Amino acid sequence: MTVADPDPVDDVVATIARSAAEIRQGLVGRRGKADEENPSGETQAEADVWADELLANRLSSIDGVGEYASEERSEIIDTGDERVYVAVDPLDGSSNLKSNNTMGTVFGIYDEPLPAPGSALVASGWVLYGPITTMAYARDGSVTKYELTSGERTVVEEDVTLPDDPLVYGFGGRVPHWHDDFREYVREIESNPDHKLRYGGAMIGDVNQVLTYGGIFAYPALKDDLRGKLRLQFEGNPIAYLIEAAGGRSSDGSQSILEVEPTDLHDRVPLHVGNTELIDRLEDAL
Ligand code: F6P
Repeated sequence: MTVADPDPVDDVVATIARSAAEIRQGLVGRRGKADEENPSGETQAEADVWADELLANRLSSIDGVGEYASEERSEIIDTGDERVYVAVDPLDGSSNLKSNNTMGTVFGIYDEPLPAPGSALVASGWVLYGPITTMAYARDGSVTKYELTSGERTVVEEDVTLPDDPLVYGFGGRVPHWHDDFREYVREIESNPDHKLRYGGAMIGDVNQVLTYGGIFAYPALKDDLRGKLRLQFEGNPIAYLIEAAGGRSSDGSQSILEVEPTDLHDRVPLHVGNTELIDRLEDAL
């Protein structure tokens, strides 16, 4: 890259920020199911397919973007360029469309072809479609929060860190499918009178609660699936990168999510993120 070259990372983030209002608006009339499953075997919503197409077209045409990969498509779009490689969950939590609850767009920007370990991330973030549209973005060990309005990004907080005193917890998966040691750990978290349950069915909404109030979010290994539910490239790594940049920790149960070596683009990973002391205790408990 020469000094004069535009930074593809900035272009990717600006494009996602500019597209957010359109994605939000485009949810209207697209709340039904598509006749397709995604590569993880989940029924896609019309909005999943539509948001993926929109982001695929825009992000893969940015100069310097070598690959576009998404949770909603089995194959990577390979542009032949080779500076950054983008992995996206276009609409995280799209099962919330029906009940009109929170959803998001999650992205990871890697400097290695996909699938890549989280240690190859150079930036990551998410858009949250809540009562207002916000973005959390991590790069170079620092996290910034923005409000997004019609394509404009307004900084609301720089150098964001997790609050010291954890307040919220949210754990995915059916309780009967949790392993006993994880269940014990949850009991301990619940028994602290300072802790409050927050679980909304969209990872990104729940993780944003952890970023805002401190605490822990997990979608753990389950008795019927040791890999849990969430996808490493599209969800686990980007979330872990941002939470670690905010001074927290991530874990697959024994190591940072960012250290997990991928074997396949659509790999799943048990995900635990939050305040360092809570993740340390979790690793001791498992
Ligand atoms: O991407 C998967 C996802 O929609 C996450 O956003 C969310 O945390 C999880 O699935 C919800 O799963 P469940 O319906 O099992 O609670």
